[in-house]
Amino acid sequence: MEITILGIESSCDDTSAAVVRDGRLLSNVIASQAVHAEYGGVVPELASRAHGQNIVPVVDLALKRAGITPAEVDGIAVTRGPGLLGSLLVGVSFAKGFSIAQNTPMMEVNHLQGHVLAHFVTLPEQPDRPKPRFPFLCLLVSGGNSQIVLVRDYLDMEIVGSTIDDAAGEAFDKCAKIMGLSYPGGPLIDRLARSEGADPHAFKFAKPSVPGFDYSFSGLKTSFLYFLRERVAEDPEFIDKHQADLCASLQATIVEILMNKLIRAAKQYDIREIAVAGGVSANSGLRDAIRAAGQRFGWETYIPPVELTTDNAAMIAITGYYKYLREEFAGLDMTPVAKIGAL
Ligand code: KG4
Repeated sequence: MEITILGIESSCDDTSAAVVRDGRLLSNVIASQAVHAEYGGVVPELASRAHGQNIVPVVDLALKRAGITPAEVDGIAVTRGPGLLGSLLVGVSFAKGFSIAQNTPMMEVNHLQGHVLAHFVTLPEQPDRPKPRFPFLCLLVSGGNSQIVLVRDYLDMEIVGSTIDDAAGEAFDKCAKIMGLSYPGGPLIDRLARSEGADPHAFKFAKPSVPGFDYSFSGLKTSFLYFLRERVAEDPEFIDKHQADLCASLQATIVEILMNKLIRAAKQYDIREIAVAGGVSANSGLRDAIRAAGQRFGWETYIPPVELTTDNAAMIAITGYYKYLREEFAGLDMTPVAKIGAL
């Protein structure tokens, strides 16, 4: 029997719904919220209001694109957290309503587990895309998290390293803001870093010294801020003149910090199946570095298609699919949680 799962994602500033049938993606609709751009970051109250407006049309479109009716959904998967509470509440409330109306089970999904399991979504245009073999290590880098995850099975994961302050995506976004670039700055820095002649060795920034496999990015942001303050005091046009070099050097530093720990973790756990996930895995410098390390250390590397790197409901639906197979259903008393520790 085929199993059709509807996934709902509303943890931050993207409202998304997706339909997955036996792991194959039938539709994945994402409504991004432009309203935050002028504030330089996500405004929680505006995000939850926009989710409230988007959720019904987004689900409707996902079902239509998949060519199914609500009655054909076997289970509904929804992000429980981590994320913005008001935003999560919209998706969770919708999922509960759908579950009651259609009499279908509901599965709660940890957003971060979703990012990791995005690797198991079968895309219609790439049906043979290789999937990581267990156990594998996943570098999970997004706007809110930077972690190294040891993945033993679909639903058996252990975080072996995590950021103790800012996430890698936050470092990109905050440094972009310091340079006067718009939000989210990660993709802009990536683009400028790739401009003709941009030199990744032009500037040196502070690198953290944190024990184990944990990360830290707030020192880099601060050193970047003070470096620019000094230079701009000498030459007010410094940022404009050196924008591409600044972006290339900053990106190279972030990538190096991420890769150092990943390489050490791969050695310590003796694992050569290495995946990357989350919004920052769209970064071209990081993708190149993972491929290069793969060649050097004999890793099999798994880099998701760009549409599965940023927040999307396909990854929520696939996680829900594995939970459905194990009959791990959520009760109607399930509540969203903002922090990972509570999941
Ligand atoms: O996974 P995601 O969509 O949202 C969270 O769950 O946090 O990640 C968003 C983050 C933002 O910080 C954004 O700047 C970053 O991913 N990002 C990038 C790139 N594309 C998105 N960072 C660097 N280079 C990129 N190409």
